Amino acid sequence: MKHGSSSPLTVLGAALGALLGLLLSLPALGATAGLPGQVAPFVVMDERDVKAALKLAKVGRGDRLIDLGSGDGRIVIAAAKRGAEALGVELDPSLVMKARRAAERAGVEQRARFIEGDLFAQDLSTATVVTLYLFPDANLALRPKLLRELSPGTRIVSNSFDLGAWKPDAHIQAASSGGLLLWIVPAPLGGAWCTARGERFQFEQTYHAVRLRKVPPSLGIGASWEGRLRGSKLISDGTEGRLSGRLEGAKLILQASGAASVKATRC
Ligand SMILES: C[S@@+](CC[C@H](N)C(=O)[O-])C[C@H]1O[C@@H](n2cnc3c(N)ncnc32)[C@H](O)[C@@H]1O
Repeated sequence: MKHGSSSPLTVLGAALGALLGLLLSLPALGATAGLPGQVAPFVVMDERDVKAALKLAKVGRGDRLIDLGSGDGRIVIAAAKRGAEALGVELDPSLVMKARRAAERAGVEQRARFIEGDLFAQDLSTATVVTLYLFPDANLALRPKLLRELSPGTRIVSNSFDLGAWKPDAHIQAASSGGLLLWIVPAPLGGAWCTARGERFQFEQTYHAVRLRKVPPSLGIGASWEGRLRGSKLISDGTEGRLSGRLEGAKLILQASGAASVKATRC
């Protein structure tokens, strides 16, 4: 797992600072607190962090980015400038107007679109990247929707706040907030699989963490194995019992180091 240099305590402190910052800045920014359904106030994201967030998610041509709670549109516009098709969903109509005008001024209005609406009602199934800068409770409320609607491999970047038990694949320090966190949506791997030889084995999965309590003998890597999913790719955490793999549609292809690959399908 790739992590930045920040310790968990530093990140926690920075996240709490960011939460306090969000709350304190509300009146100063004239934020429209209290719009029905608003789960975070509008707070301006530092341009350096906008850049860093898009770099972390490797946003570019071919991507379809959705910013949930798009504020003044700066993430959507920056993503469009990088060649992505970008969509902002924002509850506050005055911010939607502001964002549309900014996209026109930047000459990217064809690729930077804004919808006035509730982020929880937005269909996310076409996104390759989702960005968030919301309160912790809102992130947690969104988590099942993200897991249900996003395809494996989709990148999620959140400014400052995590997704609870779903641990990030990476976090980096930010210029002016509690850090930037990245998740790669894991493929659904949990459950029973069978090889062509009739070997049956069971993957346990918690978000991107995966585990085989009983490794099929044909893989020859020992009794049990733990690793993680990066989208549809299976990666070993330790150096022992090295195993890699990938999900290709309904087919699972496993490869132990130095051995022939083993194919499996759902039993
Ligand atoms: C902290 S700002 C983030 C703005 C932008 N994503 C950025 O990072 O620059 C949060 C935004 O989410 C919007 N918001 C809050 N609840 C929402 C909801 N239920 N649906 C759509 N937008 C919402 C707020 O109006 C605000 O503009």
